[in-house]
Amino acid sequence: MAGLPSRELALMQSSTHPQAGRYPAGGLAFPHRDLTGIGQLARHEILYLLDEAEQWVELNRQPKKKTDLLNGLTIINAFFENSTRTLLSFEIAGKRLGADVVNMHAATSSVKKGETLIDTAMTLNAMRADAIVIRHASSGAVRLIAEKVDCPVLNAGDGQHEHPTQALLDALTMRHALGLPVGSDLNGLKVTICGDILHSRVARSNILSLTALGADVRVCAPPALMPAEIEAMGVTPFFDFDAALKGANIVMMLRLQQERMSGQFIPSPREYRHLYGLTPERLARAEPDAFVMHPGPMNRGVEIDSTVADHPTRSLITRQVEMGVAIRMACLEVLTRRARGVPGWEAEGVPA
Ligand code: CP
Repeated sequence: MAGLPSRELALMQSSTHPQAGRYPAGGLAFPHRDLTGIGQLARHEILYLLDEAEQWVELNRQPKKKTDLLNGLTIINAFFENSTRTLLSFEIAGKRLGADVVNMHAATSSVKKGETLIDTAMTLNAMRADAIVIRHASSGAVRLIAEKVDCPVLNAGDGQHEHPTQALLDALTMRHALGLPVGSDLNGLKVTICGDILHSRVARSNILSLTALGADVRVCAPPALMPAEIEAMGVTPFFDFDAALKGANIVMMLRLQQERMSGQFIPSPREYRHLYGLTPERLARAEPDAFVMHPGPMNRGVEIDSTVADHPTRSLITRQVEMGVAIRMACLEVLTRRARGVPGWEAEGVPA
């Protein structure tokens, strides 16, 4: 708890929350209305969301998976870009918490008739949503919407900027795979992230989250797909995948984001696989028990081979999907506490 202001430390002592003693009490444990990025969060706020998700991991493994905590609340998932995992898991998360969940797909909405992002946001706000989940192709679009509406806004991926719930579910997946207890950070874990780092909001959010949790993060990409001055984010860049894998405990693969590329960034998928694809031979260069992760969707045979992606003990890819529902339940439950009048969470004027 080093570094917490004394007022927060004092409040911790009087908390009745199950996490009392580990986090600031009440709303001070997570003093944000919105979840727009990992960059807005302190280390203890990331850990708070991970710890809150543990109860939902347990519930989701039961035959009956429903609570009524969010009864009467309306959650709108407004997706202006395609999604399978994020959209479905936010929908399942809201429904398991008892909320009414509606999905707005831009492809079949009035966006197609030229409606602006702000007008769409004002329309959703007028329907008195209690939380809005947004995915948008433009970096910063989620923050823009958050400034226009009266309810919590959650970023489900905005352009090349951030995908905060992906980074949270990835950290929770690592904690579970490593058998680390509630409250643990990822101190000393060696994580290699390989792929299209330049265009990846998943890479950006994971770098912010993993470095905050104490992991040793290496990023690996062809020179054209490596952001300039990435070292400033506290990571070590590699262009040689074999070197980046040495000693890695976690290997996180990313797809080439063709939809964000203008021009030719790689010679060919075949050449890319040769240099940066995760094959069984290449995985052998990491630690013998290293785990493999991928946020999906995967391009099998390009950035990852099927024998690695489907490995029964080394691949965490389906575990990531499982943790995604729990993390999104935690985020929705925590961010709606003020609207639900949860004691200690009613304070006005919490920072965004
Ligand atoms: N990982 C991820 O964001 O997947 P979707 O695009 O399917 O939501």
